[in-house]
Amino acid sequence: MDTLTVHGGNPLSGRIAVRGAKNLVPKAMVAALLGDSPSRLRNVPAVSDVDVASGLLELHGVSVSAGAEDGELVLDPSQVEQADVAEVNAHAGSSRIPILLCGPLLHRLGRAFIPDLGGCRIGDRPIDFHLEALRQFGAVIEKAPDGLHLSAPHGLRGTKLSLPFPSVGATEQVLLTAVTAQGTTELRNAAVEPEILDLIAVLQKMGAIISVHTDRVFRIQGVERLRGFVHRALPDRIEAASWASAALATGGNIDVLGAKQGDLTTFLNVFRTVGGEFDVHDAGIRFWHPGGPLHSLALETDVHPGFMTDWQQPLAVALTQATGLSILHETVYENRFGFTEALVSMGAVIQLYPECLGATPCRFGQRNFLHSAVISGPTKLQGADLTIPDLRGGFSYLIAALTAHGTSTVRGVDLINRGYENFEDKLSALGASIS
Ligand code: EPU
Repeated sequence: MDTLTVHGGNPLSGRIAVRGAKNLVPKAMVAALLGDSPSRLRNVPAVSDVDVASGLLELHGVSVSAGAEDGELVLDPSQVEQADVAEVNAHAGSSRIPILLCGPLLHRLGRAFIPDLGGCRIGDRPIDFHLEALRQFGAVIEKAPDGLHLSAPHGLRGTKLSLPFPSVGATEQVLLTAVTAQGTTELRNAAVEPEILDLIAVLQKMGAIISVHTDRVFRIQGVERLRGFVHRALPDRIEAASWASAALATGGNIDVLGAKQGDLTTFLNVFRTVGGEFDVHDAGIRFWHPGGPLHSLALETDVHPGFMTDWQQPLAVALTQATGLSILHETVYENRFGFTEALVSMGAVIQLYPECLGATPCRFGQRNFLHSAVISGPTKLQGADLTIPDLRGGFSYLIAALTAHGTSTVRGVDLINRGYENFEDKLSALGASIS
């Protein structure tokens, strides 16, 4: 059930659609906890991270049901209650989402229990920024063997914070906590990813007062109550870029309905530099390989508006087909090149380095993390037996298997359902030979 046989070598061609962003939808669902009336979230993809968020919210008394529109969820928080610790613990290790319930649960119930987190193993992924921020709001945190027990004996109060790194999750934590905290919060060095700005749009619809200033500064004026929202989630720019990379690597042509140019500007520049063509139209973006050689390049991942870390893995497969040496410097996660070992087993020439091979010295330099890669191409890939390591690495394996000559066996594909809706149907619609 969890294994795909992939016959590679055919260009992927056709049209598929992307829906709401996996990295926004579960957070908007958590925001619904803060409302005093039901919320409607639209454009929700059928991915397993949404199921995890639904399960957690339901355990806390939020009713989650399908709305009238396809992909619409109705979230009713009128019966919010303390969840059973053992039941919450059943979600341990399944996702990063539970940590974001801290602020909303403290506001609603005065205490919270958060299980051990999961998510992709692409680095250590600590939560120190989250905990430090929560403490500054006045939360008391007790670490227990099963997870974190939080309380707010004196309520939550606005505060001045500065993140050591513009973390997406920690910024969301601060937003979800500050909106109904007493007084004003100032957050410096905030993440400004499009998914964060969409979460701010959700919170503003609920009645929050959040101002976004230059230089990553947010000011949030706490309000007493928030209502439900009606919101259409922004499209998934990681999925869109993944299909674009699949078109490039396989020499194909994929029209990605729903892809939004404004959120993909940096990716599109890189796609064009490598030699890919694209056409932005009213309904999405069509990506294709125009024939002829692809060009190598030097690239650093970064927080927004830089080149996203989640775009790196799918693009790396396309770069195995480019002429010359491509240099990738990963500056967001210390351990996001593990997936290249499998590409090498398929015939790619990739070497990893602990040095910062880029203009920006990053947090991982001089620390023995293999966070730079040099890809030498073009190389012919051969089918192989692969086991999926993480979500984006997993999708990259599929792209590699589809690019390769011969047959590949890809195990553990269930993990891909965390972030790619109906990916098997989409692959079939694009002419992939999979079973
Ligand atoms: N970090 C800390 N301490 C913290 C929080 C983060 O050191 O308390 C570090 C992390 O270890 C990492 C860096 O800061 O090195 C950035 O982490 P961030 O908090 O921004 O990541 P996240 O919120 O855990 C989200 C996405 C990721 C995406 C990153 C960066 C979700 C559910 N996950 O993770 O998505 O890579 O932002 O854009 O939104 C994926 O979709 O496959 C994925 C991994």
